[in-house]
Amino acid sequence: MSKSIGQILKLKGSEVWTLGSSATVYEALALMAEKGVGALVIIDDSKVVGIFTERDHARKVDLGGRCSQKAFVHQVMSTEICYVAPETSVDEAMAIMTDNRCRHLPVMVADEMVGLASIGDLVKASLDEKDFVINQLKKYIKGDP
Ligand SMILES: NC(=O)c1ccc[n+]([C@@H]2O[C@H](COP(=O)([O-])OP(=O)(O)OC[C@H]3O[C@@H](n4cnc5c(N)ncnc54)[C@H](O)[C@@H]3O)[C@@H](O)[C@H]2O)c1
Repeated sequence: MSKSIGQILKLKGSEVWTLGSSATVYEALALMAEKGVGALVIIDDSKVVGIFTERDHARKVDLGGRCSQKAFVHQVMSTEICYVAPETSVDEAMAIMTDNRCRHLPVMVADEMVGLASIGDLVKASLDEKDFVINQLKKYIKGDP
């Protein structure tokens, strides 16, 4: 059984960068650049209403004939969001991303967002786990105690 999302959040932290849907796309891009992240969770009245990602920008702003200074986040954000719980395993979360073609999953406990897991977080956790198993097997083969 792979690690849980809750275990990943303990290592990477639970802070999530968010913005309201009435912000402009330019403001969203500036915040993403400042924080070094590829997505923002969009919150109105304390509720998650969408997620805005680099992919939304690439596909819906320039290609959609919009300008980032004038377009609003609510016009281009993705509103079909997949969520996970802290108990969800990394393998399950990877399957959710693959099935739904998304790269960021807000982590929810009831109505409260307690973190965000990205595809990079899941790949890193999965590789770390594989490294651990390989090292254990190497020790076993060498006969180390
Ligand atoms: N070394 C690591 O621990 C690690 C972890 C994740 C990603 N990465 C690398 O970063 C690059 C891009 O990663 P990605 O495709 O997963 O997407 P990304 O750039 O959106 O995410 C990068 C990191 O920022 C976090 N993040 C993203 N949006 C956030 C938000 N709104 N609030 C708070 N945190 C947020 C993610 O959880 C992840 O840890 C890749 O090259 C990947 O390999 C490295």
